[in-house]
Amino acid sequence: MAFKNIAEDPKYKGVLPSDFLHGYASAAYQIEGAASEGGRGPCIFDVSLKDFPDTGEVACKSYHMWRDDVELLRQYGARSYRFSISWTRIKPLGGKNDPLNQEGIDYYNNLINALLDAGIEPTVTLFHYDVPQALQERYRGFAAVDPAQLIEDFVDYARICFSAYGDRVKRWLTINEPYIFTISMVDHIKDWTNADLIRVGHNSLLTHAYATDLYRREFQQSQKGQIGIALNNEWVEPIDNSPEAIAAANLSRGRTLGWGTQTTAWDAWGDLFLRFSDEEMKLLKGSADFFSINHYGTMYATGKPFKAEDAMGWQTMEEVNKSWEKDGKLIGKRGENGHPHMVGWGFRNLLIHCWENYAKDLDLPIYIYENGFPVEDEQHMPLEQILDDKDRQEFYSDYIRGLCDAVLDHGAKIQGYHCWSLLDNLEWVCGYGPRFGVTYIDKENGFKRVPKNSAKFVESIWKHVISEK
Ligand code: NOJ
Repeated sequence: MAFKNIAEDPKYKGVLPSDFLHGYASAAYQIEGAASEGGRGPCIFDVSLKDFPDTGEVACKSYHMWRDDVELLRQYGARSYRFSISWTRIKPLGGKNDPLNQEGIDYYNNLINALLDAGIEPTVTLFHYDVPQALQERYRGFAAVDPAQLIEDFVDYARICFSAYGDRVKRWLTINEPYIFTISMVDHIKDWTNADLIRVGHNSLLTHAYATDLYRREFQQSQKGQIGIALNNEWVEPIDNSPEAIAAANLSRGRTLGWGTQTTAWDAWGDLFLRFSDEEMKLLKGSADFFSINHYGTMYATGKPFKAEDAMGWQTMEEVNKSWEKDGKLIGKRGENGHPHMVGWGFRNLLIHCWENYAKDLDLPIYIYENGFPVEDEQHMPLEQILDDKDRQEFYSDYIRGLCDAVLDHGAKIQGYHCWSLLDNLEWVCGYGPRFGVTYIDKENGFKRVPKNSAKFVESIWKHVISEK
């Protein structure tokens, strides 16, 4: 092994609590397939990806092969599986007054029961980008100018899920990565403007707040579960000690984490940001029982004035110049799909930042609900090399070391971590090219799931770093 493996480093033996929740994450549209089966209605990706070479029409066939997925998780020693519910399997047209689809309800019931039988805790995401197409057409989905109907529809959908599954699901996530969802709406809203995007962001936080309020008022006491929102953040490090670079890094964090937690949005977004009413603000404040973060990479804030051509596509609303290079050198090893990688120190710094600034005072535990390494060329490699995914193993060793360092050095209370992802799945508009999975899908052979070496490798890390008692 060419890299320093955390699983062999005595410094990290047993540093995480014995009940640490480790496992894998996925999302409905990226894995289920069966897009027109089981009574499912279309979501915005069925429409916007229609003419793309890769779509979610078949995906990993998890709608049919969920038993194989549960078996994989069991084999990998996972304690937790985070998956999302497809809104249009439950309500094909999405709205409160639209019909319910019992087949969809049954599908997730079976999955949840099988997970629990295998000793794996389900964490359920209510919404992972797949807006019902009917609602997109009715009122522009999350870009609705008046969000009242969207909120009613989302809260009704949430109610159905809490009622159907809440006796067994003890951890809920309302919205996945509202910031990324917002900027990715450029693919779905015709002639979008920044004002549309800002409304999507605003409305995502509102739906989260109202669904959480419903859970707390009507379900939490009897079901004894917890609810949160999956925020995301790349780590943005000032490139040097200049006041400009430090200010730029702070601004960037304010616009993502500060916005998601509603602590610094006013300063960071200024007049661009829509204000919440006092009543909405009351619902938003404290609307998470745990601090949940997805993370993929690190960049430097340069502090140089922003030029539009410097924006890297997906940073539509950003006005902070960031770089993947310092002194002409890339930060760590570059992952594909715009993700910079291999800097566990960035993950460590992010976790310390989240702990010190958001979680500590409220005594909220931190759960990482996504972290993973994409390999673009995997599809062109010989199978043997795909399965012996050394770069991914190095990534997990480095990042879990970053996590353990945040615990050791700063006493950060981190309670869970989920690899993205269980399977090689559809990376949205990027198709099946960038692969994040610890499991290869053999599409020539009935979509057979074939474990990559990283799956066992990650398990060996947990055996080392989690305390036995
Ligand atoms: C975050 C998103 O939640 C997920 O859907 C996506 O596949 C990963 N990032 C990787 O880009």
